[in-house]
Amino acid sequence: MSALSQDLIKWYEIHQRNLPWRHTKDPYQIWLSEVILQQTRVDQGLPYFNKFVHAFPNIHALANASQQEVLSLWQGLGYYSRGRNLHATAQIISQNYDGRFPESYQGLLQLKGIGPYTAAAIASFAFDLPHAVVDGNVYRVLSRYFGIDLAINSTSGKKTFEKIAEEILDPKQAAQHNQAMMEFGALQCKPVSPNCEVCPLQLSCVAFSEGKVQQLPVKEKKVKVRPRFFVYHVVPNQQGYLAFEKRGAGDIWEGLYQFPLVELSSEEAQVAYLAHFDAAWRSAPFKHILTHQNIKAFFIRAPFAAEKKELEHYPFEEISSLPLPRLIDKFLEQHREDLTK
Ligand code: ADE
Ligand code: SF4
Repeated sequence: MSALSQDLIKWYEIHQRNLPWRHTKDPYQIWLSEVILQQTRVDQGLPYFNKFVHAFPNIHALANASQQEVLSLWQGLGYYSRGRNLHATAQIISQNYDGRFPESYQGLLQLKGIGPYTAAAIASFAFDLPHAVVDGNVYRVLSRYFGIDLAINSTSGKKTFEKIAEEILDPKQAAQHNQAMMEFGALQCKPVSPNCEVCPLQLSCVAFSEGKVQQLPVKEKKVKVRPRFFVYHVVPNQQGYLAFEKRGAGDIWEGLYQFPLVELSSEEAQVAYLAHFDAAWRSAPFKHILTHQNIKAFFIRAPFAAEKKELEHYPFEEISSLPLPRLIDKFLEQHREDLTK
């Protein structure tokens, strides 16, 4: 077994909290505890666990309860959909599996509502199968102990940490090892101010020896997608020429040509703007997706107050020689006939 696993289990034997789901091999109770602990912290989840086990001592009792009974016990845990999923999974196991949880990791994974984390937890805690649980605690401990600065929320980072978690697992003591790992992350190697000064792993911890405890684990910032709401005015002048403006610097599509554009700050504002014009003609919404922007655009045939814009007018035949954003191209492809009528 790995030295790390040995040290963690030794620490766990001394420091573990006395929690009811650690005194059972009943997969039902273990599943219940894990579902609740995905919603909330241990101290807040504990009374919920006790209430559920008391009201529904086995999977059939939970399955046969009304949805309302289940949801009223769930109240306060948030996300009622998760409470409904708990009930639905119980019904599947009760009816289709004769009330018995599958006794393999793969079998557990087949169940709707049981993902890799919960499958590994049940497989190891209830059946002593050698599967490593990987939750936020585990990512944090591994990234610090081994000094790994891969993002824990990136695909490649997750893969790496999952692989390491499997490698250091002591297959003969999977349940103890997994509990120890999570408990160590929750009590010792905490997210903020970990207790490094009195840590049994201190001598071999890379983050500690390199002074990188504060920087680990690394989390990738997910770039937010910015929603944008455009209304283009497609207005022919007396000769039938269409008005265009050239896009300026500092935004998408610099230097490209477009119909006079009004950008609205929200979907509501866009709806109100369109209603205000009550245009003779309006396109269906165009959804245009860029790397970090989602554009929802309408094209309307309605007069445009042109004061602040420098407009240029082009006959229809010349439009295709202008540099155009793909969004305008798509509109022109679909509406050629509306414009040449
Ligand atoms: N958090 C998630 N699962 C847990 C467990 N089995 N014990 C303590 N904390 C947990
Ligand atoms: Fe975590 Fe600090 Fe211990 Fe390293 S020394 S395992 S960072 S608590």
